[in-house]
Amino acid sequence: MKQRIVNVWAALSFIGFVTVAIVGVVMWSHSFNSRAKPSELEASVAMKAHDSSIPDRYETMKNPLTNSKISLVEAGGRYEEHCAACHGDKGNGEPKFHGLMYPRPSNLLSGRHAGDV
Ligand code: HEC
Repeated sequence: MKQRIVNVWAALSFIGFVTVAIVGVVMWSHSFNSRAKPSELEASVAMKAHDSSIPDRYETMKNPLTNSKISLVEAGGRYEEHCAACHGDKGNGEPKFHGLMYPRPSNLLSGRHAGDV
């Protein structure tokens, strides 16, 4: 009886070890890290969660500032300080940390946000 219990534990331990090894190999081969491009499903779920976290009122919000030389110069300094590291010095989405980020920082020159500023 005692020998049977020892055999069952040995078998369960072996199965556990093999399972952990297989999961480890699969995770390793799929580059399980935050830099890897996620699957379509993961990206879709993440973007829906991301979008639902943004209050609706921001969708229609307009920039209260008007364009003037002073505001543009000031904005340029702020952009350089707070945004350029990710969106690139020119805003074209070519960051200093190129390739290290997913999702990639948006190209702010694409025209998509032309009416926002
Ligand atoms: C830490 C990196 C980082 C910094 C700093 C950063 N951004 Fe971004 N930004 C991103 C990434 C990454 C995305 C793309 C997000 C996505 O695809 O969901 C993004 C998206 C955007 C978008 C949306 C573009 C679109 O296509 O909808 C705007 C606008 C934007 N950023 C403006 C700014 C501004 C203005 C600043 C500075 C005040 C800034 N960002 C600072 C990483 C950054």
